[in-house]
Amino acid sequence: MQQYFPDRILYGGDYNPEQWSEETWREDMRLMKLAHVNMVSINIFSWTLLEPEPHKYHFEQLDRIMDMLAEHGIYADLATATASPPTWMSRLYPSILPVTQQGVRMSHGSRQHYCPNSPDYRRKAGALVEQIATRYAKHPALKMWHLNNEYGCHTGACYCENCAAAFRKWLQERYQTLDKVNQAWGTTFWSQRYYEWEDVLPPRATPAQTNPTQTLDYWRFMNDSLRGCYELEEEILRRATPSIPLTTNLMVAFKPVDVFDWAKHMDIISFDMYPAPHDGAAQVAMPHDIMRGAKGGQPHIVMEMSPSQVNWQPQNPHKRPGQLRMHIMQSIAHGANGALFFQWRQSMAGAEKYHSAVVSHEGSEQNRIFKQVAQAGAELAKLAPQVANTRIHAKVALLMDWQSWWSSEYQPGPSNQLRYYEQILTYYKALYARNIAVDIVSPEAELGEYKLVIAPLLHMIMPGVEQKLKGFVEQGGTFLTTFFSGIVDQNEHVIPGGYPGALRELLGIYVEEFDPLTPQMSNEVVIEEGELRGRYAATKWGELVHLKGAQALARFGQDYYAQHPAITEHSYGQGKAYYVATHPEQRLVDTLIKQICAQAGVEPVLDTPEGVEVTLREGKHGEKVYFVLNQSKERQQITLPEGSYTSLLDERKVQGTVEMGPLDVLVLKK
Ligand code: GLA
Repeated sequence: MQQYFPDRILYGGDYNPEQWSEETWREDMRLMKLAHVNMVSINIFSWTLLEPEPHKYHFEQLDRIMDMLAEHGIYADLATATASPPTWMSRLYPSILPVTQQGVRMSHGSRQHYCPNSPDYRRKAGALVEQIATRYAKHPALKMWHLNNEYGCHTGACYCENCAAAFRKWLQERYQTLDKVNQAWGTTFWSQRYYEWEDVLPPRATPAQTNPTQTLDYWRFMNDSLRGCYELEEEILRRATPSIPLTTNLMVAFKPVDVFDWAKHMDIISFDMYPAPHDGAAQVAMPHDIMRGAKGGQPHIVMEMSPSQVNWQPQNPHKRPGQLRMHIMQSIAHGANGALFFQWRQSMAGAEKYHSAVVSHEGSEQNRIFKQVAQAGAELAKLAPQVANTRIHAKVALLMDWQSWWSSEYQPGPSNQLRYYEQILTYYKALYARNIAVDIVSPEAELGEYKLVIAPLLHMIMPGVEQKLKGFVEQGGTFLTTFFSGIVDQNEHVIPGGYPGALRELLGIYVEEFDPLTPQMSNEVVIEEGELRGRYAATKWGELVHLKGAQALARFGQDYYAQHPAITEHSYGQGKAYYVATHPEQRLVDTLIKQICAQAGVEPVLDTPEGVEVTLREGKHGEKVYFVLNQSKERQQITLPEGSYTSLLDERKVQGTVEMGPLDVLVLKK
């Protein structure tokens, strides 16, 4: 796998200089140097300036921006500007405007007002990208392509006539015949059978539940449609500049876009990170491990983070002192090689004028945010030579599966309390709390390197996954899955023979019924002996589990299925398979995972007091760089592993026990 920017940590942000005079641009260059900026993303929303009228392109201003960046040695992450079409396009081609599920056609006047299946949009976007690619292919500032912006962010799905036609074509490719569509969608039920292709529609607003497999196929189709827009640009850019890496800024916890699927098309994976003020450190950390996992351990980039407050939460508090540095350092600690901001200079007008920026409305380097950014920039420049070439090595894989996400949250039923991302996060938190390195990967990933595989709520079992998981456990691996897993096949048909369908044999259990609980209902998990002895709250879900070879580690404590197994363990081949039949309180998940890790021979990077996070990045020649992050509000003492270390941020020598203040960061090289 090719490595891009092997000795750099990229640092900078979205730069929209078109909003200011060229005198301000010169000042920006001075300030960027002060802040140690080495890359900016430009041209993201410039389509209307580049093509003010049909086919009349104006690149003079972008030329000057590119030249200026080259002159100052700042890399351009050059965007293709296709995220927001000019207003005249919706007048000339009204069908580029997306349509909601309720049939409302959206208007321009905001951004991202395009249907991904509009032939007019695609044609015009392609023509623009051709122009940009040809013009800047050899420009010295060009170091990376930034395709579009946050695909699907505001229009995750469109339901217009163009989409209906494209959906039929997609279905024809997938199923060949209408009979097979009928079979896959189970249209015999509720009189839904299709006799003509033209009767097949997107799952638009309907009086009652829309067909679930139709809905699932629409998630798949929309993911493919958005990726089709990406691929259109990809083809042009690869032709023009085969050696310039491609990226697009993905999003966190974003259901419409399957990160693992898209990663195959990206040279460098990048995403936008906007934690809510109340998000805990584990929640902020998790997307990094998804991005890294999606690209086989290759470093990722945080393409956007907010220097302080955003403007789109109900209230928008600023980041408290130390928080920004922590977000940056945590990104690097989890394998990122880049941290960029939205945006460089705070807008004076427009929708985002109260969103923070590196250079505030006041405009000087004397402001709190700028000083923090410059300080962190200096630290990253110091770390880069020691860190950029290192990687994280994990022995645990957490499986995340967009197919299961799309199918398990189908509404209505069986429970609107099921949140797929939250279930992944629950198990992630347990690993995080123990400083256990984890790759978050798709069920398609190679599992051979891992000792433990955790797959919460793996509702849908795609072809090949059952065999892969069995093989993994047979060979000595440890596997854990949870309630409502293994239930359906790729067409969302229940796998016959009793729950948990495809995973029955591996888990050695039979689930007679599942019991989705209301928010007012709860149960208990009771453990009689051992380290986990105790009673724990269980919510959201219960099950009637029977042992078919497995043994019960815990039982339900209440209701008519009290005494039925709640957590089971099954020896299978050389390995073990665990099942958790409910959503237990975090305290139990934490201790259970701790115990299973110990049994599976998975070691934490370091034992630390609660609130202190440690990760390890390793070099090709065994170099070890530890990131120690005090995420808490208290002073903490950390006992380091045997040996002496250099603290890379201040060149101190440290060993034994170190003391850290709140939100303090240590980067230690052994
Ligand atoms: C997104 C967009 C940016 C900007 C930020 C604001 O990430 O990509 O253009 O709107 O949000 O937080």
